[in-house]
Amino acid sequence: MDLINGLKAVYYTSLLYLRVLFSLMTPGTAIWNLFQNRKGKINLISRDLICDSETLISLPKCGKPLDGFTNALCPFLPTFLLDNDQYWKQRRDVFSIANSIINQRILENSFEFKLESKKGNVLWDIFEIIAKISFQLLFNRIPTEDEFNDIYPGLLDINKIIKRFTSKPDLQARQALYDRTLILIKQNENDFVFHDSKEFYAMNEIHQVSSIAEDFLTTISVQCTDLVCHMLLLYSKYPNDFHDNIENSIHETLRLYPLTDLWTRQPYGKQRGWIASVVQLNRNGWTQPDEFISQRWDTNDHPPLMSWGFDIRRCPAQKLATGISQLVFENILKGGDFWIRPARNFEHERTFPYGCQVWIGYGEIPSEANSWTFEGKFRMQCRRWLCEKVRMIDQNELN
Ligand code: HEM
Repeated sequence: MDLINGLKAVYYTSLLYLRVLFSLMTPGTAIWNLFQNRKGKINLISRDLICDSETLISLPKCGKPLDGFTNALCPFLPTFLLDNDQYWKQRRDVFSIANSIINQRILENSFEFKLESKKGNVLWDIFEIIAKISFQLLFNRIPTEDEFNDIYPGLLDINKIIKRFTSKPDLQARQALYDRTLILIKQNENDFVFHDSKEFYAMNEIHQVSSIAEDFLTTISVQCTDLVCHMLLLYSKYPNDFHDNIENSIHETLRLYPLTDLWTRQPYGKQRGWIASVVQLNRNGWTQPDEFISQRWDTNDHPPLMSWGFDIRRCPAQKLATGISQLVFENILKGGDFWIRPARNFEHERTFPYGCQVWIGYGEIPSEANSWTFEGKFRMQCRRWLCEKVRMIDQNELN
């Protein structure tokens, strides 16, 4: 890098760090805020910032996963972090066996649940419902009370750490999740998704357990809960869009609220390491980029949706994840005159630093529903600010 470019890199890196440090924005949102519709790459001190999807897609191909610093994926999914080695291949092969069976089950099975009326944070209520469904999809039956009591606290703990509601893992809960998963694998019931799979049982214990507990139970519960919460919040403003075209509305939900904030990759070949904001990739080059307009998906005349990844490592579970999220969302809505009102002081953001603060109910809407506020916002903002910054340092996020 010559002197001028070196100075520019120092300038842009400082600008980015300062913006992230002194605002409540996630780094991905800060990048969009700073660089908006800029095209191509911006040199930072140790990486390139990739500003638009066209530039990202035309980078030399790479089989490596996004690196460990990619936030929100870390620390819950070792699969994401596995290198391009024999284990990754095994896990991907095994994943696709269950993936197609689960897709079938989503279509054929019926799922009984109800999201109870509530004023407050519904994130964990939805999480619990989806955790049960994820079990049901893997084992083709509902979990017994004992099974669920072993599994659910571990899943909850993982999600609370991801969302930074807590900072230390509950090792007892994790152990119970591990042990129960192992028992279920050993039981190998007839309807277990891997019942006939030699490939699954050829993997060693840690990969078997990780495949069930993390690739499926955790990922389904965490990712689909976030997606359903985003959909419900947008539904409160744009109900007709969701009734008219659910597929378009899911695309638009994920465009505005991608479930990951940043993607980062270590250098490979002659390629410098890079960082990209999924928020920016999904808005750069779009008309009225910050608006929810589901009809824009009626044509192909727009950049691609980047929320599912972009290369050989892109999400293998798009159909499964949208299938489950749509199923849960539609099931909630069909509970007779469903209504939802977010708290007046709630801001819909990509992450859920104060949970999903809404008032939901069925039937008549109380008059106070449009003006209620949730408590403790300031405290949650402080915790969120601290956790975001600690995470940046801890995970060397913007390195
Ligand atoms: C609900 C919305 C979801 C979104 C938006 C999403 C998005 C993503 C993204 C961005 C990646 C990384 C792509 C990359 O490295 O380039 C990814 C990878 C992956 N996702 Fe998803 N995902 C979702 C749900 C799920 C679910 C429910 C599962 C499991 C049942 C799943 C399984 C995986 C796996 C196994 C990978 C790793 C692929 C690999 O490295 O080979 N995802 N996903």
